[in-house]
Amino acid sequence: MVKAVIAGASGGIGQPLSLLMKLCPLVDELALYDVVNTPGVAADLSHISSTAKITGYLPKDDGGKAAMKDADIIIIPAGIPRKPGMTRDDLFKINAGIVKGLIEIAAEVAPKSFILVISNPVNSTVPIAAEVLKAKGVFNPQKLFGVTTLDIVRAETFVAEIAGKKTGSELTVPVIGGHSGETIVPLFSQISPSGISIPDDKYDALVNRVQFGGDEVVKAKDGAGSATLSMAYAGYRFAEKVLKAAKGEKGLVEPSFVYLPGVPGGKEIAEKTGCDFFSVPIELGPNGAEKATNVLGNITEKEKKLLDACTTGLKDNITKGVTFAHNPP
Ligand code: NAD
Ligand code: LMR
Repeated sequence: MVKAVIAGASGGIGQPLSLLMKLCPLVDELALYDVVNTPGVAADLSHISSTAKITGYLPKDDGGKAAMKDADIIIIPAGIPRKPGMTRDDLFKINAGIVKGLIEIAAEVAPKSFILVISNPVNSTVPIAAEVLKAKGVFNPQKLFGVTTLDIVRAETFVAEIAGKKTGSELTVPVIGGHSGETIVPLFSQISPSGISIPDDKYDALVNRVQFGGDEVVKAKDGAGSATLSMAYAGYRFAEKVLKAAKGEKGLVEPSFVYLPGVPGGKEIAEKTGCDFFSVPIELGPNGAEKATNVLGNITEKEKKLLDACTTGLKDNITKGVTFAHNPP
């Protein structure tokens, strides 16, 4: 029996992600938690004739604990989104506390669950989550993931457009680093299948579009929030891989923002980048993150420059999260 939880289930990402998880044959029970509207969202989804049993919880009567109790996987898209002119870091003040509170509940009632953090700024909220879990004595780095899949999805889509390939085909583009602006590093030299190269005159614009794809959506939504539908797809894609791998399916790899020293193969990447939290392609298995793939060995000169800019900003974001977890205001 697999119990999945979505915390922030009534929001722009939460609702379509809840729909996708309700349709997932790997999920037996789906608990929806939010500070508003979960009874309605749960009632609506409960009429769908797929197998997952739906429940909805609000904070009253310790609803957070009831929702998360004994969960196998907890996905967190709770928190405010950007408006035009904001950076993801501008969300820190509000979202840091929201994520901290939710992880405290998870640590208490579902310490063994996979935890997938979507809430921004991911570069800081994942370190906060790790510190909270450590303080409660239940941190398993192989089970804590910052969801950066949307960067990979965007890179796949934009590369397919340039390369004249069908989107949705078997194109893999590793994107590493963090999840904001220059901390997002696409490795176009490692596109699979091999043989696709990005023309020099399109390279900078393509890097920029992957790094600032989120801003493209924020601008187009014009004050109504940030990416929700593409994020629900990306979050579902990652969660489904985690669940399939937990059941024993092999060969499932997806980049994710993890605590590298705690993942096999991650220590040397952390030493090389100077960042303990970093996204690289992760091989998933029954224990979660089974292996971090070192893709830094054969990167190009241009990618090295991107990586330098990435690690400078990312280190500060990580420190900000760790500091907050130890000294909340
Ligand atoms: P939204 O405002 O539409 O939804 C957020 C939901 O969180 C709301 O329903 C709200 O009630 C709920 N919430 C707030 N505090 C909560 C708490 N303490 N417990 C439970 N629920 C709580 O926002 P959205 O568009 O769904 O975005 C959510 C977050 O995801 C934002 O921080 C956004 O920046 C981030 N995001 C991340 C990625 C990524 O790639 N990782 C992509 C898109 C958006
Ligand atoms: C994204 O990449 O779309 C998200 O991180 C949301 C945002 O603020 O851009």
